Amino acid sequence: MKFFIDTANLDQIREAEAMGILDGVTTNPSLMAKEGITGKNSILKHYVDICNIVEGDVSAEVISTDFEGMIREGEELADLHEQIVVKLPMIKDGVKACKYFSERGIKTNVTLVFSAGQALLAAKAGATYVSPFIGRLDDISTDGLNLIAEIRQIYDNYDFDTQILAASVRHTMHVIDCAKLGADVMTGPLSAIEGLLKHPLTDIGLAKFLEDYKKGN
Ligand code: E4P
Repeated sequence: MKFFIDTANLDQIREAEAMGILDGVTTNPSLMAKEGITGKNSILKHYVDICNIVEGDVSAEVISTDFEGMIREGEELADLHEQIVVKLPMIKDGVKACKYFSERGIKTNVTLVFSAGQALLAAKAGATYVSPFIGRLDDISTDGLNLIAEIRQIYDNYDFDTQILAASVRHTMHVIDCAKLGADVMTGPLSAIEGLLKHPLTDIGLAKFLEDYKKGN
């Protein structure tokens, strides 16, 4: 299972990278705005900065909603760095753009996916990644994890190569559950990743080992 971090915060990306478990980064326009990164040139530079920190795929989202605009923007993003994955919205022109990029060997991430049917379309269009937003489904009393299970079953039925990128992961149990269900990738905040470290018996056991070592030395 690949671990992506879902942030545009360079310090958090560095911290996750330093753990040695990071496989990539996802961003979106809201995450960029949260870090105060605005204006086209600053945003493009920020993507390059992220690529220079992490080894792995970095999703960069287009903001156009028409086919021509998505192609123009996506090509510009892909030219920035070999690690860039063009992130496209799950709308009709986004599916068309996904097909266009996949035919040209440019990696894609189809985002804002909330149903199995949308995930099927993304796979048919040759998406590298499909991003079902599990947290946002949970937010509206719909089981986000169930969507991961449905997509896994459909993709396995037909051997689709598209990787299931569980997105909108909010906490550590989401990570574990996505792993159980066979998501290929998860993207979430640093806190969800660091939560995997925690167990009181580890802390108690380590304290005891150190205490006993001191006694003998
Ligand atoms: C995915 O690529 C999105 O950036 C992200 O996971 C959305 O998460 P949120 O629902 O916590 O905003």
